[in-house]
Amino acid sequence: MSVLKERVFSGVQPTGNLHLGNYLGAISRFVALQERFECIYCVVDMHAITVPQDPEALTRQIREVAAAFIASGVDPKNHIIFNQSQVAEHAELAWVLNCVARMGWMNRMTQFKEKASKDRENASLGLYAYPTLMAADILVYRANAVPVGEDQKQHLELTRDIAQKFNNDFASSIARNGFGDTFFPLPEPLIQGTSTRVMSLRDGTKKMSKSDPSDYSRINLTDDADAIAQKVRKAKTDPEPIPETVEELANRPEAENLVGIFATLADKPREAVLAEFAGNQFSVFKSALVDIVVAKLGPIGAEMQRLVADPAYIDSVLVDGSDRARVIARQTMDAVKDIVGFVRART
Ligand code: TYM
Repeated sequence: MSVLKERVFSGVQPTGNLHLGNYLGAISRFVALQERFECIYCVVDMHAITVPQDPEALTRQIREVAAAFIASGVDPKNHIIFNQSQVAEHAELAWVLNCVARMGWMNRMTQFKEKASKDRENASLGLYAYPTLMAADILVYRANAVPVGEDQKQHLELTRDIAQKFNNDFASSIARNGFGDTFFPLPEPLIQGTSTRVMSLRDGTKKMSKSDPSDYSRINLTDDADAIAQKVRKAKTDPEPIPETVEELANRPEAENLVGIFATLADKPREAVLAEFAGNQFSVFKSALVDIVVAKLGPIGAEMQRLVADPAYIDSVLVDGSDRARVIARQTMDAVKDIVGFVRART
């Protein structure tokens, strides 16, 4: 077995309202990957400003995401936690990748279409270029694997296309500079587990989202037990009891979502959850769901509160993580400059 660990990279935007979907689809997966991989987890503050942000709130939210990583169990000593804007190489590589990515590819990005919606003329250029910055985040560490929720799949496919095109366009220079036949590995999306797409508690056909105007649509990581209980009790369901088989959850999006959340938190297959609750009304199931959500998120929320009360500690984690990330990113950027043909100082 190789002693070299493969590298994992992922990012979360500090745009407020971190929720159960972020936790189950991404952050809890980050924790699980630490044993097998060298992990780099980033608070992507430069992505956040692609839409307007209040500066004071942004600062608070950057620390809050870092606190969520730590409170969930990411180890900032053995792995790296940092915020994107402290490592300038992300923006530097993004520029080169802007010159590799094709307009046709960018025009297909559904997240831009959703976020810019009808007011496209007024969307920022940064929002349009968002996916090339995301590709730079991953490729600047030449990461092999990227744990994300289902909604990020298209961005990861684009990242692979950009990496492939760079490898092809510069093939002879890559070889001449001693990097063999490929420079960037094609990163694997890790979209795994039973909650890759957690849905809104108000509408089982819509993704649980930070930007949903209704706070009842999501469970925030900082919600207390009362808020969690209220939101779960008010969650939309249908009049049928809990079914016996997973097949019977089809066309019952709210039931399917709640059963999926329970299964992931209990670390059981959905079949086992159905076996336990089949025939029961939702009121019974919801009480058990409140208990398990409170048991899992309660300690994380409490630890987050404790950590954000000590901003000096969080900032020291982010500075230390950035210093270590920059060493890796600088090496990639120097190599990219040589491959592209830029002139640079050599030390
Ligand atoms: P963001 O900040 O929107 O979400 C962070 C992570 O949470 C996942 N997620 C969900 N998973 C399941 N169910 C949901 N309802 C749900 N909502 C969000 C997201 O898939 C994501 O994994 N573009 C990224 C941030 C980013 C990034 C990167 C990710 C920037 N650079 C490089 C990976 C690698 C984003 O907006 O995530």
